[in-house]
Amino acid sequence: MNSQKLTSLLNEMTLDEKIAQLLQLATPFFEGSKDEGQITGPLASMNISDENIINTGSVLGASGGAKEAINIQKAHLKKNRLGIPLLFMADVIHGYKTIFPVPLAIGCSWDLDKAQQSAEIAAKEAAVAGVHVTFSPMVDLVRDPRWGRVMESTGEDPFLNGEFAKAFVRGFQGKDLKHNTDSVAACVKHFAAYGAAEGGRDYNTVNMSERQLRESYLPAYKAALDEGCEMVMTAFNTVDGIPATGNVKLMRDLLREEWGFDGVLISDWGAVKEMIPHGVAEDEAEAAYKAIQAGVDIEMMTSCYVDHLKKQVESGKVEEKLIDESVMRILTLKDKLGLFENPFRGADEALENELVMSEDHRQAARELAVKSSVLLKNNGVLPINREKKIALVGPFAQSGDVLGPWSFLGSKEKAVQLYDGLLAKMNSSLLLTAAKGCEIETGTEEQLAEAVKAAKEADLIVLALGEASEMSGEAGCRADIRLPQIQLELAAKMKELDKPIVAVLFNGRPLDLHGIWEESDAILEAWYPGTEGGNAIGDILFGDANPSGKLAMSFPHSVGQVPVYYNHFNTGRPQGAPDAQERYVSQYLDIPNEPLLPFGYGLSYTSFAYSNETLSDVTMTATKPLTVSVEVQNSGSMAGEEIVQLYIRDISGEVVRPMKELKSFKKLSLQPGEKATVEFEITEEMLRYHHADLSFKSDIGKFIAFVGPNSRDTVEMAFELVNE
Ligand code: BGC
Repeated sequence: MNSQKLTSLLNEMTLDEKIAQLLQLATPFFEGSKDEGQITGPLASMNISDENIINTGSVLGASGGAKEAINIQKAHLKKNRLGIPLLFMADVIHGYKTIFPVPLAIGCSWDLDKAQQSAEIAAKEAAVAGVHVTFSPMVDLVRDPRWGRVMESTGEDPFLNGEFAKAFVRGFQGKDLKHNTDSVAACVKHFAAYGAAEGGRDYNTVNMSERQLRESYLPAYKAALDEGCEMVMTAFNTVDGIPATGNVKLMRDLLREEWGFDGVLISDWGAVKEMIPHGVAEDEAEAAYKAIQAGVDIEMMTSCYVDHLKKQVESGKVEEKLIDESVMRILTLKDKLGLFENPFRGADEALENELVMSEDHRQAARELAVKSSVLLKNNGVLPINREKKIALVGPFAQSGDVLGPWSFLGSKEKAVQLYDGLLAKMNSSLLLTAAKGCEIETGTEEQLAEAVKAAKEADLIVLALGEASEMSGEAGCRADIRLPQIQLELAAKMKELDKPIVAVLFNGRPLDLHGIWEESDAILEAWYPGTEGGNAIGDILFGDANPSGKLAMSFPHSVGQVPVYYNHFNTGRPQGAPDAQERYVSQYLDIPNEPLLPFGYGLSYTSFAYSNETLSDVTMTATKPLTVSVEVQNSGSMAGEEIVQLYIRDISGEVVRPMKELKSFKKLSLQPGEKATVEFEITEEMLRYHHADLSFKSDIGKFIAFVGPNSRDTVEMAFELVNE
């Protein structure tokens, strides 16, 4: 449809029809749904008239596959007066049915191509099942591992998050939403700064300066939009005292005006009505008013708009123009997706059966799981010699809970458990014994005794520990981020046996590793590795694959340090400054300032030697960039991948600058003995930051470039930005 046709469609719509177009309801409200009529739980409080259901604009959580999507759309089009098709939206976060590692794990791959591929596959599986829009990517910057949703993000760095945001958007949307019906529109979330909830407690207050917002938190959302992301979702939290969903400054002034975003803005689930408990709206009418003023087009799963906007338009309180603009954005998205020509779009039952969970998709998931795992420690016990007798101990030894949160459609039964992944690699099943040892949070003497027996008979213990999926994700916050006590007791018991211990961790957040760090000879952070998890870990443990992941989020020494992140400021009294007095410096008396494991950190089975770090010049100008080069040699005996990282520090800014900021990285694949020269260009653009008046520019003066294998172990090179 051209825009003229869309306008005439809009002109034909009654005010009721327009307002209902702004409503999003879950599948149970719709005829043709497998859950039709199951208006229970949180849905029960919603009283939606039949007429509003007939005119609803979009569906949430289309999870019944192509058949259901087609049935709902058919039934809808029969009743909808103007034949406006429904939009189907769902949370396709790290895979549809073929589940990839959780996003935080994908962040640790630093592999943008593989990340893009995972989104392409997720889109293919979802589109063929009738989904049009995914509520992804989630690009909230995260610094507090207590927050359960850190697993949905790619970590603590604005630049890395931005790169992944773009890769995911490219993967989901492809190049042509209208004609490539195996793509889906993306929705970046949660705008804005949801990751900064105080105390790491979900839905909690966010309080930060506009500078910090712009400097650290906004860049990844912006990157997604620059890549053409079609939709934005509001955050639950407040931003500068006003809930994001009713925040005119954030949504109208910044998102729409300053950034020029003209796509669809959707509230998060119930976030319009939540303005009442937040304390900025007296009732639903006021909540509706504030959200529409802020430019929220779709209200997800509450009915403030349909129940109150009409009156407000009729009384002149709300301009009808605002409603028209929102409807037009929604119709435009429907048109971009080709729904007016083909309301069923990619939905195809036969193709769905063929495509979903295909061998190719599983293989891609396995490869990404290998690249997302991070080897945290290795005292030479890995890779495991296949002749060794292994006791596989722990609640994750034979568990399908390897998919992680936000994988509703993934099948735990079809997921590869660690036991099966290891067994597939071994010459004889006699060499592998599994014993649970304990449950995730509880245990019995019998379980422990069984594990001790298995371990005593083995040459090596693989301890499969972690958090149940429900312990992270939305509303999955923890104040104590160690492994559950019973698992630490199991680890201590295994340690007494004096055998090599390899810990494999399944979890959704950086953990406090007390109770496992000292006790283990090697630790592999597997996160929630997805459908092919067991196979991928088998590949790594037996050395068929070499781990290459590097942490996208710091592992704290203990929770008392949190938030702890590499790109912090120096303070006026840093530790270790030449004239620092020992006591009166910025430090804890009982723990180090540094995290246990820094951002960018991860080991390999081979080693990489860095040498000849050089700068092409000691000065640069706005038009004459510099080149940093470094030689990296695989100095070990196994082929491997290395992620070479470039950081920069501005020595003296108008406002304080981070100690280091990631500016670029390169992933190398090197054979034993092979050497490569890596070059990074430093441009003036990379040196810009937000000044006191928030203007974004660079300063003439001194800088340091840092190159290395992680954010801690770097080589420094000084340079200066000078006038032309
Ligand atoms: C979450 C969103 C999600 C939405 C729809 C909310 O509770 O915060 O991330 O997209 O539900 O399922």
